[in-house]
Amino acid sequence: MQAVEIKHLTKKFTNNQIAVRDLTLSINQGEVFGFLGPNGAGKTTTIKLLNGMLQPTSGKMQILGEDPTKDPIAIHQFSGVLTERAAMYDQLTGMENLLFYGEVFGLSQEDSRKRGLDLLEQLELSYAADRKLTSYSTGMRQRLSLARAMIHQPKVLFLDEPTSGLDPESVLSVNRLIQDLAKNQGVTVFLCTHQLRYAQEICTSYGLLDEGELLATGTLESLRHRVSKGLKVEVQANRISPDLHCKLLGKDRFEFTLIDEQEIPELVRKIVQSGSDIYGVTAKQLTLEEIYFALLEEGGPVHD
Ligand SMILES: Nc1ncnc2c1ncn2[C@@H]1O[C@H](COP(=O)(O)OP(=O)(O)O)[C@@H](O)[C@H]1O
Ligand SMILES: [Mg+2]
Repeated sequence: MQAVEIKHLTKKFTNNQIAVRDLTLSINQGEVFGFLGPNGAGKTTTIKLLNGMLQPTSGKMQILGEDPTKDPIAIHQFSGVLTERAAMYDQLTGMENLLFYGEVFGLSQEDSRKRGLDLLEQLELSYAADRKLTSYSTGMRQRLSLARAMIHQPKVLFLDEPTSGLDPESVLSVNRLIQDLAKNQGVTVFLCTHQLRYAQEICTSYGLLDEGELLATGTLESLRHRVSKGLKVEVQANRISPDLHCKLLGKDRFEFTLIDEQEIPELVRKIVQSGSDIYGVTAKQLTLEEIYFALLEEGGPVHD
């Protein structure tokens, strides 16, 4: 069974704004799926649709086989959601907030406390467990919201911009937690962000969105193949024989265009055999950002 299955999903708001257009995608269990696009692309709307917080205009969805339009309660039992502005209680401590939400999900006090302590430790918040939220920084709140979204050990976790407002150190602890969830506990993570560089660090597959429309889906590798016109390899060498075709980038820097990595050893052999000294070889893999812009150029969605 797929963790998430979406078919021809469209959401048109009452002001005629189409936030999501004919979205079709399927996510395997245990993936960290990066749902990426600039602000206004339709990411938050999609998360809300998947969690029964909004009703679709048309199309079908299933989370682990359940339809959020028919049974949102069932979805909430096995999914966790971190929205951009998660409601929490300022006058309660971090742990009291977690105990409260644990109870909402039907956990015993003891189970909530155990799970809460564990999550606070993983998110490096143990020291603040008994402090009221009024004394929490934005980053601490954000991490506590993540703990809250996970208190009932969800099988599918929806994270909307989970690292917004976090300092680099907190980003690392959030990343470790997300990767551990997916790798060791088989949790599927649906992660929305406009920070493509961040996504590239932790996601295992991607959906690239623009103006409510999916530009492409796949792994980084498959997306690279889709847009790349060959692999650029920079070689630093004292000279390159003229019969090895390349572009001069600067002093002692040459660029070759190959089909893929498989051709690198042969290229290196040829250069050495021609009597040159090599000081460095760097394959210039396209980043997710470059892929995104290449796809847009290729002819992103055109709407009236
Ligand atoms: N309740 C709403 N009513 C009307 N338009 C909305 C509403 N919510 C979002 N939108 C519009 O839908 C589009 C997608 O928004 P959103 O899903 O929040 O994008 P993202 O999360 O990718 O930044 C935007 O143009 C936004 O202005
Ligand atoms: Mg959003």
